[in-house]
Amino acid sequence: MDPREQTEFFYEMFDASLPRLGAGNEACTMQAIDTLLPAISQGKGKAAHRPMRILDIGCGNGAQTVWLARRVDGSILATDTHQPYLDELRRRAAAAGVTSKIQTSLRDMHGLNEDDGPFDLIWSEGSIFIVGFREGLAAWRSLLSPGGGLAVSDVAWVRSDPPEECRKFFDEVYPGMTSVAENLAAIEACGYEIIGHFTEPESAWWDHFYRPLETRLRILREKYAGDPQRLAVTDSIQMEIDIYRKHSAYYGNQFYLMRRR
Ligand SMILES: C[S@@+](CC[C@H](N)C(=O)[O-])C[C@H]1O[C@@H](n2cnc3c(N)ncnc32)[C@H](O)[C@@H]1O
Repeated sequence: MDPREQTEFFYEMFDASLPRLGAGNEACTMQAIDTLLPAISQGKGKAAHRPMRILDIGCGNGAQTVWLARRVDGSILATDTHQPYLDELRRRAAAAGVTSKIQTSLRDMHGLNEDDGPFDLIWSEGSIFIVGFREGLAAWRSLLSPGGGLAVSDVAWVRSDPPEECRKFFDEVYPGMTSVAENLAAIEACGYEIIGHFTEPESAWWDHFYRPLETRLRILREKYAGDPQRLAVTDSIQMEIDIYRKHSAYYGNQFYLMRRR
């Protein structure tokens, strides 16, 4: 496969029709909102008294965008680099009756800059790893108004003694992955106050992400039964799922809630 075919096949696996494109669920998004919003309101006091300006980075097909729109008084700029995800987000927003609160934009997170802001709240579920945890925190701070809130979720080690198979897998697919404690230190170092953090439950991986994805992989294995290259790629994604099935005690999807100092 050439690079274009690889990208096309990646998006065929992670199709816009999947419930979501990373670990998470409505209860976790709501817990994060309900933890962070009072802290923002207490901060500079501004966000509490007017509709908030919110940026959703790497929004994908928008599961969390729609939940945010339902819960928060404000307008959301939802950004991603894959137009079919944004189209699906718009369909979901229409079904939920929140179209007027959401604007979509085909934007690379590497190109966001101060001119895009300031935002009262930045949300990014499962996407900060694309720029790197610390790098994302540092870059996005300048997009926030003083006292503005940032919510990110990312995979982190919750134990320091993962089995060799698990450690090796992440050394290859996410060499920058660190522990929750290291990420909390990075948050402080990047000029934020930590408001809270929690590990998402295992159901947040299985119910709306890994199980539907496994179904999709089965369909693609049949479709591409005679295509060893595409089969190898589906195997690599299946391996990620199997690693979680075996080693979920050692790492988790962690939500971090913070306020710009
Ligand atoms: C793991 S998914 C998370 C999507 C969604 N937030 C969720 O939790 O379901 C990562 C998302 O980041 C998007 N993405 C990848 N590279 C990007 C970039 N450079 N700028 C913006 N978005 C990007 C992908 O298209 C994908 O939708």
